[in-house]
Amino acid sequence: MENFQEVDELDFENIIYEKKDGVATITLNRPKALNALNTAVMTELRTAIHDADEDESMRVIVITGAGDRAFCAGADIPELQSKSPIEARNWSMWLQMITREIEAIQTPVIAKINGFCLGGGLELAMSCDFRIASDKSKFGQPEINLGVIPGAGGTQRLTRLVGRTKSMEINMLGQAGLIDAQEAYRLNLINRVVPVEELDNAVNDYIEKLKALSPVTIGIIKLAVNKGIEMDIDRALYYEAECFGMAVSTEDFKEGTSAFLEKRKPEFKGR
Ligand code: CAA
Repeated sequence: MENFQEVDELDFENIIYEKKDGVATITLNRPKALNALNTAVMTELRTAIHDADEDESMRVIVITGAGDRAFCAGADIPELQSKSPIEARNWSMWLQMITREIEAIQTPVIAKINGFCLGGGLELAMSCDFRIASDKSKFGQPEINLGVIPGAGGTQRLTRLVGRTKSMEINMLGQAGLIDAQEAYRLNLINRVVPVEELDNAVNDYIEKLKALSPVTIGIIKLAVNKGIEMDIDRALYYEAECFGMAVSTEDFKEGTSAFLEKRKPEFKGR
């Protein structure tokens, strides 16, 4: 897939990438277009995600949107309109690959959502491990209003997260089916909804809890959940047993169990 090469991390123009205190924050930075996702944004996002995951000192990745109106209003509509059917198919597969990578990496990923979280934006958020939103956020798959359908997992991940009944409604009604943050919380689409002024604290709360745990065990849980959900129950349980064995092979397992027996706090090393 030409044109989709990785870019130099120092040359980011469409995202802001910051690494601090074990947290890599990626801010989609096109606020005038409500942080819409074009190929340039997604290429930079992908590069940053790989960089953060390969950096062992980064314990959590946070994806968020610049400005106070949107996490992301979806795929960039002018770019989308310029695509031929084959280009659109390939683009959809490429976007899906990036969301799969987010699910496959070891580092936990939090979507910090304030404002519109629509179309490809919701699809991106749904591939993250946690979704924490302000009470002024709005969620939906409005692609149908453009005469198109979600192309980065919206028909599939939304169904797995909220069930077929609500997925049909949100996908088919488009703009008329947008839901607010309270409803998204009730539907299990997001982990937490807080007043906007408490959003940073709520995200930090998750970050601190995650940082206290073993990154290697967190990575194994990610794999067990994200791979297992695609399998039948017998295979999935077998896979869980394999993952369980892998967890027991780590130094952090020895540390966690020893700390419990010695009545002290564990010091996980990620080994
Ligand atoms: N792509 C490109 N630009 C976008 C955009 C998008 N998805 N969404 C908003 N913008 C731009 C607008 O064009 C506008 O730019 P100008 O000021 O230059 O005109 C600016 O952001 C602000 O938007 P609005 O003036 O429309 O703001 P609003 O408050 O009136 O409405 C909104 C907000 C309801 C989110 C509306 O912008 C909207 O409906 N956006 C489109 C949402 C959408 O359809 N998303 C799905 C895209 S397709 C997709 O995502 C496919 C996939 O699955 C991969």
